[in-house]
Amino acid sequence: MKLTLVAILFCILQFALTVDRSNFKTCDQSSFCRRCRKVTPGDSPFALVPGTLNIYSDSITTDLVNRENNHLFSLKLEALQGNTFRLLIDEKTPLKPRYRVNDALKSNPVPGTIKVSERADNELVITSGTSKAVVTGTPFKIDFYQNEKLSLSINAKGLMRFEHLRKKPQPPAETENNENPDELPKEVLPKSIEDEDPGSWEENFKSHHDTKPNGPEAVALDFTFPQAEVLFGIPEHADSFVLKPTAGTDPYRLYNLDVFEYELDSKMALYGSIPVIYGHGPEETIGVYWQNPSETWVDVFNSNAEKNVMSSIVNFVSGSRQTEPPAAHFMSESGIVDVFLLLGPSPLDAFKQYTDLTGTAPLPQLFTLAYHQSRWNYNDEQDVNSVSNKFDEHDIPMDTIWLDIEYTDGKKYFTWDPHKFQHPLEMIKNLTTLGRHLTIIIDPHIKRESGYFFHQDCTDRGLYTKNRDGHDYEGWCWPGSSSYPDIFNPEARKYFADQYLLENFKTTTKDVMIWNDMNEPSVFNGPEITMLKDNVHFGGWEHRHIHNLYGHMYLMATFDGLSRRDPNQRPFILTRSHFAGSQRYAAMWTGDNKADWGHLEASVKMCLSEAVAGYSFCGADIGGFFGNPDAELLLRWYQTGAFLPFMRAHAHIDTKRREPWLYPEDTKQIIRSAIRERYSYLPLWYTMFYEHERDGYPVMRPLLAHYPKDKNAFAIDNEFLLQDRLLVRSVMQQGVSKVDVYFPTKGDGKGDIWYDVDDYRKITTVGHESIPADLKKIPVYQRGGSIIPKKERIRRAATLMKDDPYTLIVCLDANQSAKGTLYIDDEKSFEYRKGQYLYIEYEFKNGVFKNRFIDNKSKYSPRSWLERIVIVGLEKVPKSAKLKASKSDAADLEVLPQGNAYVIRKPGIGMAEDFSITLKY
Ligand SMILES: *[C@@H]1O[C@H](CO)[C@@H](O)[C@H](O)[C@H]1NC(C)=O
Ligand SMILES: *[C@@H]1O[C@H](CO)[C@@H](O)[C@H](O)[C@H]1NC(C)=O
Ligand SMILES: *[C@@H]1O[C@H](CO)[C@@H](O)[C@H](O)[C@H]1NC(C)=O
Repeated sequence: MKLTLVAILFCILQFALTVDRSNFKTCDQSSFCRRCRKVTPGDSPFALVPGTLNIYSDSITTDLVNRENNHLFSLKLEALQGNTFRLLIDEKTPLKPRYRVNDALKSNPVPGTIKVSERADNELVITSGTSKAVVTGTPFKIDFYQNEKLSLSINAKGLMRFEHLRKKPQPPAETENNENPDELPKEVLPKSIEDEDPGSWEENFKSHHDTKPNGPEAVALDFTFPQAEVLFGIPEHADSFVLKPTAGTDPYRLYNLDVFEYELDSKMALYGSIPVIYGHGPEETIGVYWQNPSETWVDVFNSNAEKNVMSSIVNFVSGSRQTEPPAAHFMSESGIVDVFLLLGPSPLDAFKQYTDLTGTAPLPQLFTLAYHQSRWNYNDEQDVNSVSNKFDEHDIPMDTIWLDIEYTDGKKYFTWDPHKFQHPLEMIKNLTTLGRHLTIIIDPHIKRESGYFFHQDCTDRGLYTKNRDGHDYEGWCWPGSSSYPDIFNPEARKYFADQYLLENFKTTTKDVMIWNDMNEPSVFNGPEITMLKDNVHFGGWEHRHIHNLYGHMYLMATFDGLSRRDPNQRPFILTRSHFAGSQRYAAMWTGDNKADWGHLEASVKMCLSEAVAGYSFCGADIGGFFGNPDAELLLRWYQTGAFLPFMRAHAHIDTKRREPWLYPEDTKQIIRSAIRERYSYLPLWYTMFYEHERDGYPVMRPLLAHYPKDKNAFAIDNEFLLQDRLLVRSVMQQGVSKVDVYFPTKGDGKGDIWYDVDDYRKITTVGHESIPADLKKIPVYQRGGSIIPKKERIRRAATLMKDDPYTLIVCLDANQSAKGTLYIDDEKSFEYRKGQYLYIEYEFKNGVFKNRFIDNKSKYSPRSWLERIVIVGLEKVPKSAKLKASKSDAADLEVLPQGNAYVIRKPGIGMAEDFSITLKY
């Protein structure tokens, strides 16, 4: 009891404190960030060492020297398949190995081939496909060209820094008595930045001391994007999609942290870190994936962005348009330089080059794309039951109820509160009988309570993360005193994973899905609410070396556990912390946001940044985690959430209950329509996620993905595309009755035709159009030229809609044609990987609508059938239609005008049947 009280008091205190920015470091309070930022642009001290070049079929290696201290490094530049290069730089003979990331890439990248020639004595030209890298020896620099155009430069600003491992300088008294003459300095070097910085060998932050046993070991490098106008990427930040210049502010920070009530328009670190950045201009898009899991800061240089503010003045005064191209300066506390250069050239090419390396989200079970209902907390079994029943009473579809930490017995994971949740299996069955699922939270902090099996096992087997003295590290979190499994230890991962197996977690079923929270890891009394950097993990690595990977490794364990629990059911996991590659294991959400309009807008910006960084399965707490949304905010949030990939309502324990029926009837009706609209589009969502896994492109996309030449579209982040089929501009401001929708141009002043999905009104505007948007309106547009599959019979849960018939919405382009795909399988298992699926392409052209099966037509034969075809944008009035199908006789079909569309009702064709329908005029 006493412990619980202390824990509660502590949490309250912590929360009171964490609102404060001062809980988190600024660059100036971080020694390595100070040191890296101190390097002045100009000639780099790094240079290639002549005579050390080796040439292989896919790569070159050479030595590199820091001319300031003569320390040697080895460099490898490798060509990979798919217009990608990899640059690796490590110390040639480090005092001890430096950390290399093993678990972010999905597999070993496939090598490409190179041709090498030397140009002058100081330049090496490495050609691979249509791209080439020109390596300059002194000062060291690499320029990447495509078709003779400079695309990307490395170390052009000369900001490279690589602090070699060294022995701690001894106080002078000891040096005098040193018996080993080797320890004496051989020559007197000028004082380096790291010699001068007081934090190089130990550092304090607030009451925390970091012993830094390895001293300074930072790595930093700059990247210039000569063709770019904007930079974007490096989530997770609550900031605009396009990155802002950092001159005069802190750099963007990547350090996974549990930030209480995070600020908007901020470069501060949040829960996840994906160190991939893109430079984009009308001609090309180039990506840089900086594979380093230690604390990282990124300076952004972009005089274009600065210029925009006062462009007319500058141009007028100087008469010159000369600006420095955008650049980024990555600064990491430790590790090596391991960087992938993604040479595009199109935005989608670059996004795919990134997912080719780090993977995609595996196709989720269909119900996970439907609506999730969560709150901290649903109090007990009766509460869960009654919420589920109320959704039916109010005829609102819902697929999953979520339980936050209070379901456990005293925050001990893999247990249930014995009073509030006495019959978990019956409760789960009650939900699954209705076609619904349950998701429960499992966090990485383990309650240090004697008798708790998990704690006992981790203690006995030595599976906990250690502090620098080799003892089990103890911190405070929800359970009070807690320890944290050393998730870098394969045995700890296996132990964690094993707990999900039904023979161990007997009070769950294979239909229970998992939510991993607090996995940054969050430590309430740790520095910056996380673990001490000099804690020690498996293999002797300090926490500082691997911090941003902790959450990721934790997901690997959960994924393994759920995969073994039921090998033929696709696992579903939601995570807060994430790194490059985490998309292979879990969906993510944007953490503890707030019930205000700015946070609603942030949900779109943040998910766009995640999407281009490989993370398509992204959402935000609908309604806002903290605070109480009023009716207008809540319904607008549902409308936006209905078009984000992951759709979940969630709320803090101190907020008022906010299930839709607790709001006025008209608000409830609007929320209900938004959720129902989500359900009608589930076939599209499912197809998009299948194509994401298959092709590697994001599901949710910024406008520039398809309109790369439209400069007005580059910075738009209140509007987004779903593939190239839908354009979404939901209302995210208070009290508005219209919104300005931007319809992008392909660059020649021409745009696509768009159709309002509510009434099929045709829009040919290029540029802004003001659209009336009363409280019911979600401005969403289907692109002319696309076909979208829907299901229009909405049921209580998505799982119950599996065999329901399809409707196809065919929106015609200027040529009176359209194309689109539909993917169908059992929505649940891995049988699709053995060919048990249908992947269909539909096309309308010259008045004929027909289907084609992509891949081999498989044995998979769904029970669903084609119920309606809606054709939008027809110029000639059709009188009837002729159906030819493989399994039935030719038939005449009615074509009925309906508003702005024509509807072919009940073609009644099985989804696996070949057919064509010819319009008769
Ligand atoms: C299961 O549902 C039945 C019928 O609604 C209800 O009486 C019972 O309390 C539920 N059990 C649990 C554990 O939720
Ligand atoms: C229409 O067809 C022409 C000629 O094939 C083609 O160039 C143009 O891109 C097409 N327009 C659209 C909107 O697809
Ligand atoms: C198509 O069928 C052939 C022969 O049965 C098989 O080898 C091939 O893998 C199949 N392709 C796909 C994409 O399923």
